[in-house]
Amino acid sequence: MTVHIGANPGDIAETVLMPGDPLRAKWAAERFLENPVCVNEVRGMLGFTGTWRGNRVTIHGSGMGMASLSIYANELLRDYGAKTLIRIGSCGAMQTSVKLRDVILAMTATTLSTPSSGIFRELNYAPCADYGLLQAAYKAADGKGAGIHVGGIYSSDVFYDERPDLNEQMMRHGVLAVEMEAAELYILAARHGARALAVLTVSDHLLTEEALPAEDRQSSFSDMVEIALEAAFP
Ligand code: HPA
Repeated sequence: MTVHIGANPGDIAETVLMPGDPLRAKWAAERFLENPVCVNEVRGMLGFTGTWRGNRVTIHGSGMGMASLSIYANELLRDYGAKTLIRIGSCGAMQTSVKLRDVILAMTATTLSTPSSGIFRELNYAPCADYGLLQAAYKAADGKGAGIHVGGIYSSDVFYDERPDLNEQMMRHGVLAVEMEAAELYILAARHGARALAVLTVSDHLLTEEALPAEDRQSSFSDMVEIALEAAFP
């Protein structure tokens, strides 16, 4: 047990899928895993371990934002020996070429700050995805019907952004979308010698102000779980 995860040693698989929402973790575990067992419910943050095509997998919520994700990812990596962390989540598109429901594989994640900024100080560390996972996810995503984009994203510290000028700079520099977790995930995986990737679907569009209806969110979430599982176990 750790401070925020009630699982026993060995209860967590080396491969962990991380949706933001704990209820999404429950839904995905029940829908995709064989014999899912709840391994964490501390503070309502749910984690489940089961198997997928014979491979052990944990699906554990991250919560929203890098501060929350950092707590769970640190404990999963340091204390439970997780080796592969794949975020599955939503993002807001920042380019007209990116459409609602498209899948984005985040090659890099730009930030203003992360929970790790304190250790990097003046250094501009470049958080990046694991290339093998990225390649496998691209292969898995190809054929799911949605548009696929591989490139840079922006991991913001805030949802209600009072600095629209930052979004403008991201858009000018080709950043595909904004979300709130990937950069710290990539940094922590690098620090612990693990692999990480963020697989995102576009739930809203910053330029057109469109948003996905609830039922489309569910089906695109389902696609992301499949892409993540196929990427982890190609
Ligand atoms: N901003 C930040 N995070 C997000 C957004 C957004 O517009 N959409 C989905 N996650």
